[in-house]
This record gives sequence, C-alpha cells and structure tokens, in this order.
Amino acid sequence: MMGEGSAPAGATGAAGPRDRIVRLRVNGEEHALRVPPETRLLYVLRNDLTLNGPKFGCGLGECGACTVLLDGVAARACILPVRLAEGRAVTTLEGLADETGLHPVQQAFVEEQAAQCGYCLNGMIMTAVALLDINPHPTEAQIRDALRYNLCRCGTHIEILRAVRRAAGAPEPEPRA
Ligand code: FES
Repeated sequence: MMGEGSAPAGATGAAGPRDRIVRLRVNGEEHALRVPPETRLLYVLRNDLTLNGPKFGCGLGECGACTVLLDGVAARACILPVRLAEGRAVTTLEGLADETGLHPVQQAFVEEQAAQCGYCLNGMIMTAVALLDINPHPTEAQIRDALRYNLCRCGTHIEILRAVRRAAGAPEPEPRA
C-alpha cells in the first residue's frame, strides 16, 4: 500500500486545457470544481475538499480503503472518474455522524474496538453502512460476503465482524464445531 501522501495531486494545481466545471453533492453540500473530469473521485475528495476519511490504499479498486457511498451504494473512489459522480449523492465517512452523535455503525466499531492501525476502517464502515441500509438484519454469511473484498492487514477481522453484528443487533454466531 502507498502512504496517504502518495495520492496524485489530482485536481489541485494550475488549470489545464482538459479542465471543466464538475458539480458534486458531497455529504449534502454542493460543490463546483474546475478539474479534469477523468480525475479520480478520491483525489478530488481528499485534495480539493479535504475529506480525508476515504483512504488511498492500492489505488486499483482492490483493497476498499477508499470506499464512499454513491446514492447509498458502496463505491471505490480511487478508480471512479469524478464525472461519474455528478448528479449523485456522495457520502464519505465524514457525512455519517450527525448532531446526535456517531452513526450506529461507527459507534459499534468504537464499542468493539475494531481497529488496530485503522487504515481499513473507512472502507469497512462504509461497506457495512451500505449493507445495513439495504439489509438491516443480515446473516453472518451476508456480512462476511459484503466485507470479503475489504482488506485488513492487521487481522482485526474478528472485531470488525463483531462490530457489524452489533450494529445490526445480531447475536454472536454459534461457535463452529
Ligand atoms: Fe484500494 Fe481504492 S485504494 S480500492
């Protein structure tokens, strides 16, 4: 994985001939940004809007660290051209909490202490939120299936699964024989 500072500058810097105004709705706020429309959404979020919840991990759509919600569906911002986010509701980790406090999935991750280095947590949480929005009471197999393409190198999978179960109000699974 590359470090957080490794993401290309993206939309920041001098205007180029391929720039155009791209209109985005992120966490309920409207933005008009002059960028090349092929710029990856992750770079615009992090570099232009200083939303650093989504992380730069592989940059290839494989690790899930950059996950955001597009109209409520989990999407990998590191491979998504920003033009494809126009006209859609973009939600980042920063958009989950409200004036009443953390989102229930965030709260469950805190209560289960489901972090070691924490780099994967953005993707784990955003993917879990997307799952529980369409399936509030997933089975153990459905939770594992939803998270199977989100990588955690520290190995906190047990706590992460426990946190999603807690957010879903699901009981602990029976121990395997
Ligand atoms: Fe790995 Fe986007 S950074 S999937």
